[in-house]
Amino acid sequence: MNTFEQLYGRPAEGEWAAPGRVNLIGEHTDYNLGFVLPIALPQTVRAEAARREDGLLRIWSAQGREPVTLRVADLAPGSVPGWAGYPAGVVWALRDAGHEVGGADLRLDSDVPSGAGLSSSAALECVLAAAYNDLYGLGLPAAELAVLAQRAENAFVGVPCGIMDQMASMCCRPGAALFLDSRDLAMRQVPVDLAGAGLALLVLDTRVKHDLGDGAYAALRAGCERAAALLGLPALRSLQPSGLADALARLPSELVPLVRHVVTENARVEAAVALLDAGDLVALGPILTAGHASLRDDYRVSCPETDLAVETAVAAGAHGARMTGGGFGGSVIALVDQDAAERVAAEVTTAFRAAGYAEPRTLTAVPGEGARRLR
Ligand code: GLA
Repeated sequence: MNTFEQLYGRPAEGEWAAPGRVNLIGEHTDYNLGFVLPIALPQTVRAEAARREDGLLRIWSAQGREPVTLRVADLAPGSVPGWAGYPAGVVWALRDAGHEVGGADLRLDSDVPSGAGLSSSAALECVLAAAYNDLYGLGLPAAELAVLAQRAENAFVGVPCGIMDQMASMCCRPGAALFLDSRDLAMRQVPVDLAGAGLALLVLDTRVKHDLGDGAYAALRAGCERAAALLGLPALRSLQPSGLADALARLPSELVPLVRHVVTENARVEAAVALLDAGDLVALGPILTAGHASLRDDYRVSCPETDLAVETAVAAGAHGARMTGGGFGGSVIALVDQDAAERVAAEVTTAFRAAGYAEPRTLTAVPGEGARRLR
């Protein structure tokens, strides 16, 4: 066994956890400073940790990754390749923001599926941020830790992601979705009582991740920023549905579908929140499915596997379904009656087999808790 004591010859000072997430609705809106509505998963990344006096950062992972030893004083953007860039990036971001943090011994473990669009990297960043915040007595609020975690990913790892995943992992509450305004990080916990409504939220991990995703995400983000600049707006968030037709008429044709997705998606988040507030969870279904159509036809980040999962789930009786996360593979969520969950999952599996795709992995999402100290 590789316990913390066996690895490092002393006990940990504590243990922290940070969850993965699924987004109910509001995709590719965060970097346009719009709305998102994620829930935290029960699945978490956990970190046992103890400070070190000598400025070394030692990281061991139960997922069989190569352990690393780094010198915190030497951390610089791009200097740590691979998985360790995420935790190391958080230590760098804290120090770069002027927080006097040193080294640590870390033992990581995770049950967040990686590469499944469920934010295992954000969970890894956030568990580091939560652990360092306590170990080094920083007293930073959760939202500030989320922003530092995003900075680690943007500036240290080099992925131009928005703020949704880190805010979800840091700030979600059990039994609620996080209604977040990405412009000013204003947030509201919106109760989501799936079981009370006789419903379940299936997560179907398609087990594919198309390489194209990495460069495409940056290109889509750049396209949105160009459209906002052409329209004279600080971000596409500022464009209201009532002004959409006029705006589209002023844009080059290749930017039209991007802008249409972002504006209609923001409106779908607001509509979804109104339904949750009214306790009408079943009515969320068509909003989810409409969101998927927009990601497929306008934003073009779906793929044959996610499309098949959505179509099959809806045909099998799901109230609605959509891909969740950045796209190009990853996971689909399906809102189903509790007693139909097994059948819908089985029909998606059958359809995947018939299409020659790998068998999807199924989870059931219950809105869980954000980053926290376990002991
Ligand atoms: C990824 C990014 C998020 C967000 C989603 C799409 O998960 O990390 O910031 O942009 O894609 O909604």
